Amino acid sequence: MQLVDRALAGLARQLGDPTGFAGRLVGRVLNRGNRSLVVAAVAAMECRPTSDVADIGFGGGVGLDILLDREGTVVHGVEMSETMLAEARRRFANDIARGRLRLYTGRMESLPLDDSALDAIISTNTVYFVPDLAAALRELARVLRPGGRLVLGIGDPDQMTKMPFTRHGFRLRPVGELVSAIREAGFVQIEDRRVGEGRRAFHLLVCDLPVI
Ligand SMILES: C[S@@+](CC[C@H](N)C(=O)[O-])C[C@H]1O[C@@H](n2cnc3c(N)ncnc32)[C@H](O)[C@@H]1O
Repeated sequence: MQLVDRALAGLARQLGDPTGFAGRLVGRVLNRGNRSLVVAAVAAMECRPTSDVADIGFGGGVGLDILLDREGTVVHGVEMSETMLAEARRRFANDIARGRLRLYTGRMESLPLDDSALDAIISTNTVYFVPDLAAALRELARVLRPGGRLVLGIGDPDQMTKMPFTRHGFRLRPVGELVSAIREAGFVQIEDRRVGEGRRAFHLLVCDLPVI
């Protein structure tokens, strides 16, 4: 039992901060498993072709890949995992050289980006690992332009509670609590769209800042 617990704790740690060889494997599994959620998150951005967009906590890089398909956009990727950053630098070397992709080491709670730098942000399966959610949401609002859009993707908290690894450090906040915190950070319109089938469907929280 202790062994199983240790394995689950290790998996939870890797999901929250993919590191080394195991982290690279986790990144690839995430790319496959989360692709449909990330495709829906990118579609929900509804951005003009010429815009600055970001994926915060991009993990294995599936979101960067999909965002880079949109010619004319400049894509910004922020990660705290050096393993995921190194993978992205290798995989997207051409896009970085062409100035289409900028990668940064950083955390959602303290973003290495200027005020009003972005038109839209996606961040999927990340907020479970963020202790200070209010600080993170303030940062996301700060780096977006007036009228900018944040698309947050999360698993359904009730379903995720049933996954044994989430007992090891995941913060599974109820959707209503998340929506209140997002509103508190200054977003005015927040829509909860479901992606997938049945109770296991993900939540896409599509959040707009006021235009001013
Ligand atoms: C479960 S993975 C999700 C990756 C990807 N967004 C996806 O949906 O497949 C979580 C990622 O968030 C990153 N992460 C965790 N805490 C973070 C934070 N405070 N700020 C930015 N990224 C963070 C981790 O390094 C990891 O790569």
